[in-house]
Amino acid sequence: MTGVIDLRSDTVTRPSAGMLAAMTSAPVGDDVYGEDPTIAELEADVAGLLGHEAGLFVVSGSLANILGVRALAAPGTEVLCEASAHVARAELGAHAAVSGVTTRTWSAPGGQIDLEQIRALIAPDLGPYFVTTAAVSVENTHNFGGGTIQTGYDALADELQSAGVPLHLDGARLWNASVASGVPVGAYASRAAAASVCLSKGLGAPVGSVLVGSAELIKEARVWRKRLGAGWRQAGVLAAAGLYALRNNVERLADDHAHARLIAEVLADAAPGSIKPDQVDTNIVVADLAATGKSVAQVIEAAKAEGVLVGGVGATQLRLVTHLDASTAACRQAAETIARLLR
Ligand SMILES: Cc1ncc(COP(=O)(O)O)c(C=O)c1O
Repeated sequence: MTGVIDLRSDTVTRPSAGMLAAMTSAPVGDDVYGEDPTIAELEADVAGLLGHEAGLFVVSGSLANILGVRALAAPGTEVLCEASAHVARAELGAHAAVSGVTTRTWSAPGGQIDLEQIRALIAPDLGPYFVTTAAVSVENTHNFGGGTIQTGYDALADELQSAGVPLHLDGARLWNASVASGVPVGAYASRAAAASVCLSKGLGAPVGSVLVGSAELIKEARVWRKRLGAGWRQAGVLAAAGLYALRNNVERLADDHAHARLIAEVLADAAPGSIKPDQVDTNIVVADLAATGKSVAQVIEAAKAEGVLVGGVGATQLRLVTHLDASTAACRQAAETIARLLR
């Protein structure tokens, strides 16, 4: 849609000319037979970057999480996560439906790790009375928390290591966390027994995620991917987009972060108390409209009428996500439109 500024998500980007060229020239083969060299290259590259033995290229972040959690948690066990984590709220019960796994949650501002709460939740194997905690899942950055970087990540990883409970990392936006914090993606992901990363969010590929873990974990995940009907054939054309994204679109995430800060500053000025710009860590802006007297639905509709697409998280929170198809001028224009609607 020409002229429309779409900040509903960082998944709305379109492949660039360079990415499309990489896709059309990629060598491919049948991946179910293990014969696609571009997929093999992507899986090896991402596993290496994330400090793991092996990787598995899959269609979505949700599937990477489903396979990762399935590998760590047997049917009848539980995974702990933050209450607004994607695995708990937005994967449509997949972990219960596919893996027979329940979740129990802690709740913290910004979706942050809360070590005290997690400690109290972890349930060891107590025989035939209580559900056993099989893993803890952490989202970094945290989407509905407002693109926040997890501050207590290493402390939790240390604690879980001594407790013998594996960590699952939902790193759909791990590169955003890394670029903003300066911590290499491998320093985060190598602490987890299974980690998922998305190529189709901030990195701008049209599709694809990678699950990483030990060679054994990935071997099992590969079987489960096929069992769920998600084996694919010459998908190297898609893996090529991922490789292009990794080589070209990581450093520039800093621009998205600066754009998100700019938007937050404009909104904070128009609706004091709705957002704290210094708490915008990466590319997601979540503003609370409770004190403005405006409903999220009202603002979304009014903004749409002016060619600005934004989304909502819950009853009072408006969400704007910056990405590589939204320029500085577009982000400024969107922020000023929303600010006017909030005043
Ligand atoms: C934190 C997080 N994890 C996982 C996913 C799932 O990714 P997909 O939409 O590719 O299934 C998303 C999607 O927005 C996400 O934000």
